[in-house]
Amino acid sequence: MKNKTVFVCNECGYESGKWLGKCPACNSWNSFYEQKVVETKSKGLSASEGKLTMPQSLNSYEAKETIRTHTGFQELDRVLGGGLVKGSLVLLGGEPGIGKSTLILQICDKIKGDGKVLYVSGEESAEQIKLRADRLGINNEDILFLGETNIELVNQAIINTNPKLVIIDSIQTMYSEELTAAAGSVSQVREITSQVMRVCKSKGITTIIIGHVTKEGNIAGPRVLEHMVDTVLYLEGERYFSYRILRGVKNRFGSTNEIGMFEMQDKGMQEIDNPSDILISEREDNPAGSCIVATMEGTRPLLVELQALTCNTVFGYPKRTANGIDYNRLSLLLAVLEKRAGVMLNSQDVYLNVVGGLKVNEPAIDLGIALVTASSFKNIPIPKDMIILGEVGLTGEVRRINLIEKRLKEAEKLGFKTCIIPESNKKDLKDNYKLDIIGIKDINEAMKKIGLK
Ligand code: TYD
Ligand code: MG
Repeated sequence: MKNKTVFVCNECGYESGKWLGKCPACNSWNSFYEQKVVETKSKGLSASEGKLTMPQSLNSYEAKETIRTHTGFQELDRVLGGGLVKGSLVLLGGEPGIGKSTLILQICDKIKGDGKVLYVSGEESAEQIKLRADRLGINNEDILFLGETNIELVNQAIINTNPKLVIIDSIQTMYSEELTAAAGSVSQVREITSQVMRVCKSKGITTIIIGHVTKEGNIAGPRVLEHMVDTVLYLEGERYFSYRILRGVKNRFGSTNEIGMFEMQDKGMQEIDNPSDILISEREDNPAGSCIVATMEGTRPLLVELQALTCNTVFGYPKRTANGIDYNRLSLLLAVLEKRAGVMLNSQDVYLNVVGGLKVNEPAIDLGIALVTASSFKNIPIPKDMIILGEVGLTGEVRRINLIEKRLKEAEKLGFKTCIIPESNKKDLKDNYKLDIIGIKDINEAMKKIGLK
């Protein structure tokens, strides 16, 4: 056996044989750390116990059924695809202070099944966690605590206690003795994850690893681990705003498009089962520059409020601010509005906001964005009981969107009266709705229907 070292970029994971001041892959400075590589002697054939491994027909294997445990939160179970899969490795990422430790502690208390839960924290002391548990009203004999950052000792504790669930809070504070790199570096977080994975997978222990990401999402940690773990969840939200969104970005045991909604209250995270209701509840009476659109988050339709504000530009260059939608999409739609519908915004600052801190990234809200901006510019309100749906093309045409029926059902359920949808979608509708459904072909037609033109 021979020990070799490589140098790994802490920002992006780029490997090099020698130390470099600047990473050729991501251009960051001073980001290289030394990492030891232990070479194992190749045995030629990967033979276990002297037998030759022969490939067999896939049909000759039997699929093992995944055993799922309910976490006690329906919103979380849905994002996971029906509960925590036994023996799986879950990564929970999010900005510091967003509520990861709080949510996890609540899960430790609520999770079903026999056995203990091992909470390993390198961030907080036992007293701090106890204080949080008291605040959350948690008093559970089955939660074991270990304040340790040495992963070799943590693994020993996992083997000794054999819990049903292990929490590592957080991956950035743990270190392995095998490496010289600092805790939190790419090589450390990778090594730790693979060590924990080996121990837990071999024993069928479910593991949740917590990792911090910054606003730019570029810190060592979650991003470089995504390929190693079974499930990746991100907890998002504005820190000073009480709603939190749990988003699945990778899931080997379910769909990845699901989101779960929570609210951070003084007694921890509470799930929200009727998010649309809450997202649109604080709407003013018929102001100009506000409209409701229906977006899909996974399999669930969500009604959200879009707000726009236009005002005269003070300096020469008009300002555009997009909150919760893609900036380039806004620029494109403003250009379409100007060229195809004659709404002259070239001396106007435009601010666009998705209410509730939500990020919406689908073309079905295009028409909503365009019309709400025109509504603010002309100071003409869009009717309060109206929903607007449709993708807008560069020639101003309104294009078909997917899953229209689900969106309409949600609008109907929440008592909306009128719905503006693409003409091509209207032709295909099968069900009867109580809604007054108006099909339109282009943006001008939509503006005329609402009285914006
Ligand atoms: P925390 O779970 O420590 O965040 P993370 O682990 O993601 O860094 O949450 C920290 C914030 O949550 C802190 O600002 C206080 C707030 N909080 C509540 O609002 N209610 C509560 O019941 C608890 C425990 C925390
Ligand atoms: Mg924490």
